[in-house]
Amino acid sequence: MFALDLPTENLLYLVLYLVTLVLHVVAMNYVVGGAMVLAGAAVYRLVGNYCDATRSIVAVIKDWLPLALGVTITLGVAPILFVQMLYKHAFYTANLLLFHRWMAILPVLIVAFYLLYLQKSEWLERRAQVVRAAVAVGVLAMFLFVAWSWSENHLLSLASQQQWTEHYAQGRMWYLTSETFPRLSLWMIGSLATLSVIVAWQLRSQASSTTVHRLALIGLCGAIGSVVAAGWYWLALPGAVRTAIGESANLVVVIVGGLGLAAFVAAWVKMARSGRMEARLLWLATVGLAIAIPCATLLREVRRYVALTEVDHWQPAVAATQESAQFGGFGVFLLFFVANVLVIGWIIRRVSQQVKHAS
Ligand code: HEM
Repeated sequence: MFALDLPTENLLYLVLYLVTLVLHVVAMNYVVGGAMVLAGAAVYRLVGNYCDATRSIVAVIKDWLPLALGVTITLGVAPILFVQMLYKHAFYTANLLLFHRWMAILPVLIVAFYLLYLQKSEWLERRAQVVRAAVAVGVLAMFLFVAWSWSENHLLSLASQQQWTEHYAQGRMWYLTSETFPRLSLWMIGSLATLSVIVAWQLRSQASSTTVHRLALIGLCGAIGSVVAAGWYWLALPGAVRTAIGESANLVVVIVGGLGLAAFVAAWVKMARSGRMEARLLWLATVGLAIAIPCATLLREVRRYVALTEVDHWQPAVAATQESAQFGGFGVFLLFFVANVLVIGWIIRRVSQQVKHAS
């Protein structure tokens, strides 16, 4: 396992990166999984009506999606700082080479944000079903574009100098490899597993047996779908990465992650059978995911480690991070930390006062 050989400073940044990325992934899963369910439900409404259980799932997701998107974006900031700290050269190069494509994430996210509010509005409820379906599918397409962009950027950052030069010389906007689709599908389908657990917690007190069945279906599609997608990705991975994952320490991570996923599946199967949302089973599904997601996130770094070692970018990145760790700035950090805590505390107080006043 590459992490075990890292100097302490690098290990600290890596842990911070992984922890913050896991938080980003959880929120992103709600956004992407939620958009998939809403788009699926809206398209289904074109041909038939759905039951109360589906209606309650759709309503809660619709209500929480704008906040979830805000949380996803906010939680993306910390890992973006740490990924630059860890992999400077590779990360910056991919950003520069993709430039316009990469920057398109921003307007797309802004439009998606407004569409999420539109999706909640009574105005849209009064429109024809086909318009509502178009909005839901449009939102999903935007999130898929953003997710695609992150995967594309990640894969380009792992390429060689020769591929970078070629990409630049030909003025390409896209970077497509045989890994792109399997990798993306793993992230996208896996989102449904996280979504099922979060929505289950949200609807716990009012869930009918049909709601439990619907959520179990979403969760199990997410879990089984991600195993299939992982198998597909395995076939697309370079041989050196497969060998690295086969090393004992990485294999332990695969097994632990697999056990987490198995616990998740077992919990949903039991709940689906009984038609009841039992707290202990919901906890089991949550803990299972809390094990599986960090394991997948750690294994994701093995792909980067092997690629950057092959193109001789790994050691320079490690040395540069170690050097950066020598610079101070704790006082400035503390100053902004305190200032931010005060501003956020003041905003929360003001909002809660206004809410109390209004009710
Ligand atoms: C709805 C919006 C978003 C979606 C759907 C999304 C999706 C994703 C996905 C799928 C990945 C994994 C890519 C891969 O490993 O192939 C990822 C990674 C990441 N995302 Fe997001 N993301 C969103 C917004 C953001 C924003 C706004 C930021 C920054 C402020 C951000 C920061 C990151 C970082 C730093 C990584 C890791 C990059 C790396 O290690 O190469 N994300 N995101």
